[in-house]
Amino acid sequence: MEEVAKLLAVLALFVLSLHFITKFLKLRNRPSLRHLPPGASGWPVVGETFEFRKRSLEGSPTRFIQERMDKYDSRVFKTSLFGSLLAVLCGPAGHKFLFSNENKNVQVWWPGSVRKLMSQSLVSRVGDEAKMTRKLLLSFLNAETLRNFVPKMDSIAQRHIKTHWEGKVQVLVYPIIQLYTFELACCLFLSIEDSQVPNLSSLFDVFLKGIIAFPINLPGARFHRAMKAADAIRKEIKMILKKRKVNLEEKRASPTQDLLSHLLVTSDANGRFLSDMEIIDNILLLLFAGHDTSRSVISSVMNYLGQLPQVYELVLKEQLEISQGKEEGELLRWEDVQKMKYTWNVVSEVMRLSPPVRGAYREAIKDFTYADYNIPKGWKLLWNTGSSHKDPTLFSNPENFDPSRFEGEGPVPFSYVPFGGGPRMCLGQEFARLEILVFMHNIVKRFKWNLVLHDEKFKYDPLLEPEKGLPIQLQPSPLLPNTFSRHIIH
Ligand code: HEM
Repeated sequence: MEEVAKLLAVLALFVLSLHFITKFLKLRNRPSLRHLPPGASGWPVVGETFEFRKRSLEGSPTRFIQERMDKYDSRVFKTSLFGSLLAVLCGPAGHKFLFSNENKNVQVWWPGSVRKLMSQSLVSRVGDEAKMTRKLLLSFLNAETLRNFVPKMDSIAQRHIKTHWEGKVQVLVYPIIQLYTFELACCLFLSIEDSQVPNLSSLFDVFLKGIIAFPINLPGARFHRAMKAADAIRKEIKMILKKRKVNLEEKRASPTQDLLSHLLVTSDANGRFLSDMEIIDNILLLLFAGHDTSRSVISSVMNYLGQLPQVYELVLKEQLEISQGKEEGELLRWEDVQKMKYTWNVVSEVMRLSPPVRGAYREAIKDFTYADYNIPKGWKLLWNTGSSHKDPTLFSNPENFDPSRFEGEGPVPFSYVPFGGGPRMCLGQEFARLEILVFMHNIVKRFKWNLVLHDEKFKYDPLLEPEKGLPIQLQPSPLLPNTFSRHIIH
């Protein structure tokens, strides 16, 4: 009997080995694993991560991309980052391919830490579910809805400047701007009063530090602390949500007062409402996605304006013309922001030269070919602003600061992509445009500034930020002694 059992075990081992050998050979001979994009896989496991990180911290991730485009193929190359083999699809053709192939050949992909921290949100959704969630969130974040919040944004910007900038000789721009962008988001998403903001903001700092980290949920790890902070934020939002439901039922809250009310009363085309957990995680996602992005842009704009006084003067001229067309103390309206064309061209040129976000990931959901190379299912794909924003064939004299590039038809399609593109394009583009322009209006009217540090370095960690926080010296504008509205909304 024992002999038979031994024989069976050996046989089973033999069949199993045969199975794995055949699978390995099949995999090796899989057509899609031949003729892959050229490039280097770097060191085992870490790949080329250290070099990519080094270039990012130097503020020149474009160099990492450009060197490989020159060395291998300007259309696509292979590399290995953060433990994954990936193909970088370059230039407008690469961007167009990734943006127009969502759910066909590719799907959006975020690192595991992001998906785990906001598991019920849009970043963990693909296909029809993602479409439905995007539609719901966009029904609040679109221009039609957000236009009603412009006076509120102006009021928050004025209060922020009054509290944190007025009377100061020197300020550190990057940390201060966070107070504006976070308060604005808390107010428009949750109607949170300013007294509650600092507590949420400090929890949010911990959350952000662990969001792009190895997803190890063990005490002491950044990710573990982020999970705990996320739970604490969820708890706060849940309390607000519960109270809001009661207030909506008793007609003590307005269905249009903020994003929270909007999501509680709005269903999708099939009449389905988001669950409480989905609402909470999506609000967490929007706070995360909008937190450092607009802050990075405003800091970069202030840096460029500090270096280019002639551009500052033209921005100021446009903003003063807008103020002059208004009653004294009257808050900004949507129509005023629409007139800020030159200022927005300046912001766009800043985002071309110094994009706050380098790019984003996709995952191949089937084997396909691109530029004659095979891309195997499961590979990660990356589009990158660095592969087109400074290409001299797309932007003449690309190193020159020239806001007029955005006049008329503007850049060639898919060449200028600070917000991505296609069905997974940034959801907060309009929100960001309004919060940045409203802030610029208020700050240039109140101050001129000098950069304290000559040529302060900006680095990607993971978004673009000034290495020393961008210290500036303020000079109050002599033009308008009291530009603040008497109608600040509380
Ligand atoms: C100037 C500021 C901003 C820039 C440059 C920016 C840029 C981006 C980029 C590059 C993506 C990835 C797109 C892709 O995968 O192709 C993205 C996604 C996203 N952004 Fe923004 N963003 C900004 C502000 C905001 C704000 C203020 C919010 C929220 C109010 C926001 C919400 C989102 C969301 C929810 C996504 C994920 C969309 C999806 O996966 O379907 N962003 N953003």
